[in-house]
Amino acid sequence: MSGRIPRQFVDDLLVRVDIVDLIDSHVPLKKVGGSFVARCPFHTEKTPSFSVNRNRQMYHCFGCGASGNAISFLMAYSHLGFVEAVEDLAVFVGVDVPRERGQELLPVAKEDFSRLYSILEEVAAFYVEQLRSDEGKKAVEYLKGRGVSGEVARDFALGYAPQGWDALSKRFDRGSLIDAGMLVVREDGKVYDRFRGRLMFPIRDRRARVIGFGGRVLDDSLPKYLNSPETAIFSKGKELYGLSVLLQKKARPERILVVEGYMDVVALAQFGIGNAVAALGTATSRAQIDLLFRYSSELVFCFDGDNAGRKAAWKAVEAALPCLREGCQIKIMLLPQGHDPDSLVRSDGMEGFQRRIADAKVLSDYFFGYLSEQLNLATVEGRSQLMAAARPQLEKIPQGIFKGMMRRRLDELAGVSGMDVPKNQSKLNSRGASQGKTFRQVPSLMRRVLALLVQHPDLGQVFVEQNLNLGDFKFAGKELLEDLLQKIALEKPENGAILLEAYRGTEYERTINALAGLVLDVPEEGRVAEFSGALAQLMRQCRQDKLGELLAKDRSEGLSVEEKQLLRGLLGGNAR
Ligand code: UTP
Ligand code: MN
Repeated sequence: MSGRIPRQFVDDLLVRVDIVDLIDSHVPLKKVGGSFVARCPFHTEKTPSFSVNRNRQMYHCFGCGASGNAISFLMAYSHLGFVEAVEDLAVFVGVDVPRERGQELLPVAKEDFSRLYSILEEVAAFYVEQLRSDEGKKAVEYLKGRGVSGEVARDFALGYAPQGWDALSKRFDRGSLIDAGMLVVREDGKVYDRFRGRLMFPIRDRRARVIGFGGRVLDDSLPKYLNSPETAIFSKGKELYGLSVLLQKKARPERILVVEGYMDVVALAQFGIGNAVAALGTATSRAQIDLLFRYSSELVFCFDGDNAGRKAAWKAVEAALPCLREGCQIKIMLLPQGHDPDSLVRSDGMEGFQRRIADAKVLSDYFFGYLSEQLNLATVEGRSQLMAAARPQLEKIPQGIFKGMMRRRLDELAGVSGMDVPKNQSKLNSRGASQGKTFRQVPSLMRRVLALLVQHPDLGQVFVEQNLNLGDFKFAGKELLEDLLQKIALEKPENGAILLEAYRGTEYERTINALAGLVLDVPEEGRVAEFSGALAQLMRQCRQDKLGELLAKDRSEGLSVEEKQLLRGLLGGNAR
């Protein structure tokens, strides 16, 4: 899947797709007047404030402010990266995605993993079917014995892999089974089924495709669990068991619990706690944490209360530090000795377990508690050891408010506040204030001009026709206005959705998105007049500002020849 997707292709795609059809296939829309509305899929609401505009090919939610084009919708709704969203959109439109190869433009088929996905889907269905066979009864009994209902077993598509050595290889294509990790290949080239006589847990990616399996024995034999090996489509450190089941029930869970085992996820779901996922027998990785933060802003890690559990918790904390941006939080929940979430929810019940979740330690407390545990902070030695241990860890946190707070907390604990703490706070503040490109600082007249232009790029023509010259006028939003006019002149985007695409990944992306969502209420026939009027007013304001500036300078230090000329021009040629 190498090579960039050509921009032209993306733009063509946005011309061909109808965003109303696309969104309607995910979120049923209702036609109200000229627009299509629904309850917003990105936040919880009772009355619909999510609206899709066919002319502009954009969506906007008046409740939460989410907005964008067809690609943005797929990225947000299906939790996809840009390339994945373009690929999905291409499937929706029915075209292949070409890739740039050096100079050439070839429509290359993307590496074809569909064979692997489909065989695994078939195998999963086969395992489910086997639960109903005579042999499968013992797996059903096992599930009953562990209190798993038929409904929960169905949600997770639990199944049974029969005892034989060739249950799969005699039914499905061997090559595909091998590539999908379902067969073991012996040295002599003979193959046999990897999973035999086991309760099967299909592992799905976030797009709900089966990518591998975990399988548990039904007795005490070893190994207790077997997992699919790494394959072209399965990478343990990047996936989480239970995530797709969770996302299907709730696209934006308030929090996600991260537990250790398959059965923990299933048992919690059985008790009505449907927001748990499990790392697949490995330590939670940064990739997994980043992935989870795409869906929820709070993660609660559950670990056994024993030594191994505490070690694992610390490892997870270390992995999480680089992911801690504003608004994201992590909590740590250590379980009583000898318990895992499965056994605990059975003994405490759902409410008891929920209480424990609510009592989980915030990461900052856990972090300093863990590091100070063995130290005596009443001594200089202890405090300096804490400093030495904590400082390099805190460096991993991204710049921002949270990092600053963690540093101050460390200073407090180590008792150095007010002594030799370097004062770099003011530096931070001035940097924040000078970011003059944020949307809020642009006054409303300018905002109207920009929004009209973003929503109807063809208005750029008005600017050209009137031969307006922004010259050396200074005003907020000028840089963006010039950038917009230039992009429109160069790329001639057919609609706002395509213009939006031109800004993806740039410093202006968010601003453009916000402008695209601004409600302007201008009827089509009045649009050009409205835009010309707003431009005229803008130019008037600019001229007045400049005039004031020149007159003031004339009084104080005098004007250069050019400035005098400019002043004369501004005064309509009446000034001498
Ligand atoms: P546990 O031993 O805690 O299993 O391993 P569990 O989930 O509590 O299983 P039950 O309750 O006995 O059924 C936690 C996780 O470690 C991985 C699995 O992902 C398991 O869910 N594991 C464990 C293996 O991969 N292989 C093993 O042999 C054991
Ligand atoms: Mn267990």
